[in-house]
Order: sequence, then structure tokens, then C-alpha cells
Amino acid sequence: MEQTIKFPVVNLSKLNGEERDQTMALINDACENWGFFEIVNHGLPHDLMDNVEKMTKEHYKKSMEQKFNDMLRSKGLEKLETEVEDVDWESTFYLRHLPQSNLYDIPDMSDEYRTAMKDFGKRLENLAEDLLDLLCENLGLENGYLKKVFHGTKGPTFGTKVSNYPPCPGPEMIKGLRAHTDAGGIILLFQDDKVSGLQLLKDGDWIDVPPLNHSIVINLGDQLEVITNGKYKSVMHRVVTQKEGNRMSIASFYNPGSDAEISPASSLASKETEYPSFVFDDYMKLYAGVKFQPKEPRFEAMKNATAVTELNPAASVETF
Ligand code: OGA
Ligand code: NI
Repeated sequence: MEQTIKFPVVNLSKLNGEERDQTMALINDACENWGFFEIVNHGLPHDLMDNVEKMTKEHYKKSMEQKFNDMLRSKGLEKLETEVEDVDWESTFYLRHLPQSNLYDIPDMSDEYRTAMKDFGKRLENLAEDLLDLLCENLGLENGYLKKVFHGTKGPTFGTKVSNYPPCPGPEMIKGLRAHTDAGGIILLFQDDKVSGLQLLKDGDWIDVPPLNHSIVINLGDQLEVITNGKYKSVMHRVVTQKEGNRMSIASFYNPGSDAEISPASSLASKETEYPSFVFDDYMKLYAGVKFQPKEPRFEAMKNATAVTELNPAASVETF
């Protein structure tokens, strides 16, 4: 299908000029109607981004490709004669930045790669916090409100998922990453500038999130939907596989701290509020088992502990 609707691209440098109001309105519209937008002129140095991309691709070749191929063999996925619905065609590793960095525990990273990812992570953390304040402004919440909610007693959780989606002989048989909404707060994605694959669900259609050199894709997680009482939405997205090309993506998740208390902001809540209040970690325990299912039953289940156990018996939320 031809893509007729235009994916929102926000030029952040316009926030410092005459077009500030239109730019803020564009961000607000994207948060309400897309759950996604792409930013350019975000302040991240392009040479750092190029370096991170290059080293991520080298790291995959050197340290991940063999493991990925072994995984395919062990799961019998080389042939792909039937549809596979319980595995993702992706190779990943995780870096945690906050509350404590694990950057120096990851094996097989060159010093140069580690240093670049540290710098990249710090800049994305600052960018995430700036974006949260733009959201606060649009939502009529006091400056710093979201950051404060996410802080809990230990500060936010911030981590990076480094992924490669290798070429796939049967793209119709398996997804790179199955459809899901993200559980957390705000997600900043640096994706391959050539190989596409990310799609979001809008009004029943899967829409491509187009590669755009040196841009960062932003999307909102379930927690922002709860805090905004549904004014903003977390939106289903997936990665499709491609016959040609290895797609790189680096997704950084700025999430609440484990003991942060999440609930609709009082100025946005209404009598008919449909969203629950909970401790973030309890939501994550539930999410772990039902990530690839719709979010609505999760929100529903968080209103009552028995329902949580029914949806995901492993979650066992404690209530006192
Ligand atoms: C995710 C995700 C998209 C991508 O990891 O939650 O949606 O392009 N990733 O890797
Ligand atoms: Ni996601």
C-alpha cells in the first residue's frame, strides 16, 4: 500500500525561534495521534552517531553474528517453511546506564566502542529529560513533573537495547520483533539510515517509520499513557524483516525507577479515569510475560491483583 499519511518529523532547532508554537503543537499532535515522532537538529553530534553506527555494525560481525546463526540452527529456523510466531529475528544486547551502569561488564566491547556508547548514552539521557519537559509544557504540567514522577527513590532507569536485524530468507514467515507497545516512559531510537523495518499501527494500518539520516525516533511507553490519563498513547509497533541488508537499531529506554509510583496526573485525571495507579516494578513484572499482547488487559489487570495473576501467573504482585 502506498504511504499517504506523513510521519511527523520535528525540527527541534525551531524551538528557539519564531516557529516555537507550531513546533510545540506538532509535538503535541504527534503524542496524541501517533505515539511517535522523529526529531532532527536534536543536538547529538553527527560524527558521534556515525561512529556509534559503524562500531555497532563491526561489533555485530565480530561478536554477535556467529551466536545469531547458532540460534537459528538450534531453533530450526534456517528454512522457514511455516510461519514462526514465538521467536524474533533479532540479535540484541543490553546496556544499562542508570541507576548503575553495566557498561564495563559487557564482554567483547572495544574501549573505543564503550567510550562512544557512554557519551551517546549520557547525551540521550539529557535529551530524554528535555523532551519530558516539552511534554510537561504541552500537557500543562509543571516543569520537571514527569522527571520527578520517574525518579522514585533511586532515580530513573535508563538503558539501551542494541539490535541488529540480519537479512532474512522468509520475511513473510517471521518478524524481526513482534508487535508490542513499550512498557516504560520515553524511548529514543537511533535506527539504520538505509535499511528500514520499523512500522507502527495507525488507524488499523501498519505505517513505515522511514529511515532518515541522523534523526532520532521518539515514542511513548505505557507509563506516559497512564500518567496522561490516555491523552497521550503508547502505540503498537513492530519490526519486519528484509531479504537484503542488516538493519541496526539502538533503542534507549528512559523509564521510571523501580519503586516510582505511577498514576494519572491529578490535573489530567477525570472522574471516569480508566487508568490504574501502581508501583512501576509491579507493572514490569506483569509486562514481562505479556509483552506481545495488547496493553488494555494490562491496564485493567493492574487495577486488581487477582487479575494480574490470571494474566501472568509468574507476576505475583504483592499487595498489602
Ligand atoms: C523495542 C523496539 C524497534 C527497533 O526494542 O522495543 O520497538 O527498531 N525496537 O529496534
Ligand atoms: Ni518497542
